[in-house]
Amino acid sequence: MTAQYQVQGDIAIISLNNPPVNGLGYDTRIGITDGLDQANGDAAVKAIVLTGAGKAFSGGADIREFNSPKAMQEPTLLSVIRAVENSGKPVVAAVHSVAMGGGLELALGAHYRIAAPGAKIALPEVKLGLIPGAGGTVRLPRVLGVETALNMIVKGDPVNSEVLAGLPGQKLFDKLAASPEKLLDEAVAFAREVAAKHADGSALPLVRNLPCKHPQGDAYFGFARNMVAGMSRNFPAPVKCVDALENATRFKFDDALTKEREIFIALMQTPECKALRHVFAAERAASKIPDVGPEVQPRAIAKVAVIGAGTMGGGIAMNFLNAGIPVTMLEMKQEALNRGVAVMSKNYEAQVKKGKLKQDKYEQRMSLLKTTLNYADIKDADLVIEAVFEELGVKEAVFKQLDAVMKPGAILASNTSTLDVNKIAAFTQRPQDVVGMHFFSPANVMKLLEVVRGAKTGKDVLATVMALAKKIKKTAVVSGVCDGFIGNRMIEQYSRQAGFLLDEGATPQQVDKAIEKFGFAMGPFRMGDLAGNDIGWAIRKRRAVEHPDMKYSRTADKLCELGRFGQKTGAGWYDYQPGKRDAIPSQLVEDMIAKHRQELGITPRKIGDPEIIERLVYSLVNEGARILEDGIASKASDIDMVYLTGYGFPLWRGGPMQYASQVGLFNVMQSMKRFARNPRDDASFWQPAALIAKLAAEGKTFG
Ligand code: NAI
Repeated sequence: MTAQYQVQGDIAIISLNNPPVNGLGYDTRIGITDGLDQANGDAAVKAIVLTGAGKAFSGGADIREFNSPKAMQEPTLLSVIRAVENSGKPVVAAVHSVAMGGGLELALGAHYRIAAPGAKIALPEVKLGLIPGAGGTVRLPRVLGVETALNMIVKGDPVNSEVLAGLPGQKLFDKLAASPEKLLDEAVAFAREVAAKHADGSALPLVRNLPCKHPQGDAYFGFARNMVAGMSRNFPAPVKCVDALENATRFKFDDALTKEREIFIALMQTPECKALRHVFAAERAASKIPDVGPEVQPRAIAKVAVIGAGTMGGGIAMNFLNAGIPVTMLEMKQEALNRGVAVMSKNYEAQVKKGKLKQDKYEQRMSLLKTTLNYADIKDADLVIEAVFEELGVKEAVFKQLDAVMKPGAILASNTSTLDVNKIAAFTQRPQDVVGMHFFSPANVMKLLEVVRGAKTGKDVLATVMALAKKIKKTAVVSGVCDGFIGNRMIEQYSRQAGFLLDEGATPQQVDKAIEKFGFAMGPFRMGDLAGNDIGWAIRKRRAVEHPDMKYSRTADKLCELGRFGQKTGAGWYDYQPGKRDAIPSQLVEDMIAKHRQELGITPRKIGDPEIIERLVYSLVNEGARILEDGIASKASDIDMVYLTGYGFPLWRGGPMQYASQVGLFNVMQSMKRFARNPRDDASFWQPAALIAKLAAEGKTFG
């Protein structure tokens, strides 16, 4: 049953019942229209209350119907809303908890609306690259005024029902219930009231009949369009929201509704919309691990310990303090603790100064922090995260200590970015409790958390870490054990390509500009300067021992030999003025690269931006496909989430694997074959992963 029907005296109650959020799937839509028919056919019923069972009025479209013909099967949402409007008996929408997207559009079709306080009201379609498609842009301005409606539709963020109910002149809610618990009773009483009012046969009020005007339409919409366009480059939907709102003021209701639908359908086909819908689904899919079902009980995490108060340790601790979870930080020396705590305080103070955090909240968070030099003080923690130096010997000493002191059942996590989590687990007698929690720097800001699953990591440990990630507002993606895990294993190939591009004729600034124009937050060379070029140098030295025949450009090593580690040394691929972060192209670096080319006997050639973009992005794609083949990632969309949340890949392109799917894997392979013929490149690098070849041959995508 996806919509329930019951009668309370002379009032019929239709309750949407499609958990978790009463999505408006086909069966629910049928349930509503059946309920309306039944109520209208029952002489004893005087009015109808339309509400939602459980945790929502309605969250809108049923995402399980995304991309399925069922979404468009009659009765569509538009037809359901029309049926509500056409009901001969008054329909009162009783809104609580969540009324979003199609859910709100449905409520707007009702003759009257009553809301519980605290309900989240939104038209969030813009976040999926769409505009509302079932009358939202045409009805919301009629009840809230053009400007409020436009703000809500362009931003897509939820607004609390009591805030909207308090707006002067608003017609969205006829009443605000005293509390969510009293909503249904009040809605039934209100339905009785309106039934009595219309007993004389007077017309029922419809939002569509309200006026929709802006006193300075031309000026206002011109201004709004410019503002929105400036803020949403690369995303077509926000400006289309403005267009739809303007249509609502200029055309008759039904014509504006038709135009809304046309815009909606056109946006559906845009790559940006496809990418955003992919990301929406990918985000949800990332939290699901194929062999860890809901039957796996997570462990309780009430206390956390962090070992190491350096760059990562402090940021990691802040995540838990922010979520109200007490943290004890352990270090080798008091000075290191003091330094770590001072950095955290400074971070919080900066937030207070910017008005992003209240002083009392800051104090409350810091009061949850304890520090110690003694392992005995952390033995009761439910989770301990190690963030000490990246050396296996140091990790060994720490994990042996932890194994000796931590209570049974405590989760022992490592923040290692390159070391073998299975080896780390083997330092303990409890490898089932060991897991990688790879945060990204700055750990209190970056959304990504790679959860590294060791061969023996317990399923309940994974379930716990995934649930905890949600609590600390991270996007967790599970990775198997390999060098670099998902993200850094791919970025290594990307960096190798960036190096080959320099050898062949490009400059760091040209490469950075090209990929930044594609949409990356930062090109590889600016990124290197920010993170520190010495980090990659150390990794390459290790690699040179492990894989002596791997081909790579020596320019980055030469840069490091000059001591140009990046912003922290005031010079890297770019020059920096003291205290500033602006990257200034460096003649010295260009000369160094030119000399290197001469040594290799390379005559530089002009490389176009499209080639730079393809080589960098497809290097990610090819390694991503290998990661899938190796079972390091369980699905392509997980790789996309890693790149979107940890590496600044442009959101509107949906991640590297989604982008490759949109380009078409056949076309991606064609480019790879072309690059493999380039003698300056590495032919084996461009050997397409078997998975790509297979999918391309079958005409498929990464899915
Ligand atoms: P860091 O050098 O800034 O901090 C390490 C801290 O650990 C120092 O304060 C040191 O005193 C302390 N420490 C060392 N040995 C210890 C021991 N035996 N007991 C207690 N404390 C000890 O290093 P960072 O950058 O914070 O890195 C820590 C870990 O996080 C490494 O495994 C690194 O690979 C990983 N990581 C680093 C990222 C970064 O961008 N810095 C990103 C992701 C992971």
